[in-house]
Amino acid sequence: MSKIVVRGGNELKGEVNISTAKNSVLPIIAGCILSGGKCIIDDAPMLEDVFVISDVLRTICAGIDINRSSNRIIIDSSNIEECDPSSDLVKKMRASFLIMGPMISRFGKFKLSLPGGCNIGTRPIDLHLKGFSALGAEVNVGHGYVEAYAKKLIGSKIYLDFPSVGATENIMMAAVMAEGETIIENAAEEPEIEDLGRFLNSMGANVIGAGSDTVRIIGVKNLKGTRHKPICDRIEAGTFMIAAAITRSKIKINGINEEHLKPIIAKLTETGVKIKVNGDSMIVDGTGRLKPVDIKTMPYPGFPTDMQSQMTALLCTIQGTSIVTETIFENRFMHATEMKRMGANIKIDGRSAVIEGVDRLTGAEVRATDLRAGAALILCGLSAEGETQVTDIYHVDRGYVDIEKKLQGLGADIERVE
Ligand code: UD1
Repeated sequence: MSKIVVRGGNELKGEVNISTAKNSVLPIIAGCILSGGKCIIDDAPMLEDVFVISDVLRTICAGIDINRSSNRIIIDSSNIEECDPSSDLVKKMRASFLIMGPMISRFGKFKLSLPGGCNIGTRPIDLHLKGFSALGAEVNVGHGYVEAYAKKLIGSKIYLDFPSVGATENIMMAAVMAEGETIIENAAEEPEIEDLGRFLNSMGANVIGAGSDTVRIIGVKNLKGTRHKPICDRIEAGTFMIAAAITRSKIKINGINEEHLKPIIAKLTETGVKIKVNGDSMIVDGTGRLKPVDIKTMPYPGFPTDMQSQMTALLCTIQGTSIVTETIFENRFMHATEMKRMGANIKIDGRSAVIEGVDRLTGAEVRATDLRAGAALILCGLSAEGETQVTDIYHVDRGYVDIEKKLQGLGADIERVE
């Protein structure tokens, strides 16, 4: 199994290009099911999660052509069948559940293995199911499966108890060909949902307000194939912003959207990192003296939970006390135990981590416990004295394109060891 070896202490310089967003491309690939034709996704990020959801689609007979040199994915959904995809694949990745909405919409029935739990929390799917039921589907859960059946989906008003990203996306996709109007209230507002709305509309759907707290969907009879380029990955961009800050370096990050990065820019600015945006590029200057800050993760436009562990990594290196509160997932501090192996001073108290910055982290062998935790440990390694080995790196490969190559390009001493 591969691991990443980092020898810390190098100053970073130069530029890095951000890939398109994992969390945009996954629902978009699921959404291709709706077209019944051919969809082209340009500039797709070549990531493990993308390969897994593509394999899920293959098991229901979609034609998938992934061109890794041009980063293009062509999905032909004309031969898709209403059959049970491999449960091993579905359990491998929670986002596989995003095919449920499109499949019910297209075939009126579908049976899918329940997605597994995951390291960061129990992650139920009750809100997805509540949405399908409100659209008129009969939903049954049992023996590890969800089964939904609807002679006809009918538009409805759905209030989400919590603005779940996945539930908002799944319900949007179930509703695009339902009869009449669907309104999702207290919808998640993440930029990736706006991107999904744009993608669905380019197939002929009528989705209004995706990316706001109220999404209106006026059902259409059918959809057609389309071509789409997903938005850039704000979490990858944020991770590289912290790479600059944690190494007290100055770098240029290309391919960003300032609007989507507002909560991250605000918090890093509060620590004393200087950020200058110019169109779709930014200069991040972490060379000054940095101050501790408190953060609390919230649904967008709040501070993203997917940046919590990377921000924790940075705060471990800033003198003074910082408090990080995680409100989205109940078990998202596993990286703290690993960071402590590197000399970090973190105390977990329920949903908060109290961090006392230390002079210097020290290299150690640590384990990536989940995707963003793995990225955070690599960040710690960049600033630590000596060598850090991050094992279970497959977690990181789920969501970062060539992370070690991009960091090498910035001057980091980092390599992948098989
Ligand atoms: C998506 C992102 C993930 C990110 C998360 C929160 C993708 C592929 N993944 O995950 O990277 O960390 O948003 O920003 O886009 N919940 C329920 N019932 C449900 C659904 C969710 O209680 O039916 C809870 C979850 O347990 C969790 C919270 O809502 O505590 C947020 O989950 P959700 O927004 O659904 O996250 P995902 O869509 O799974």
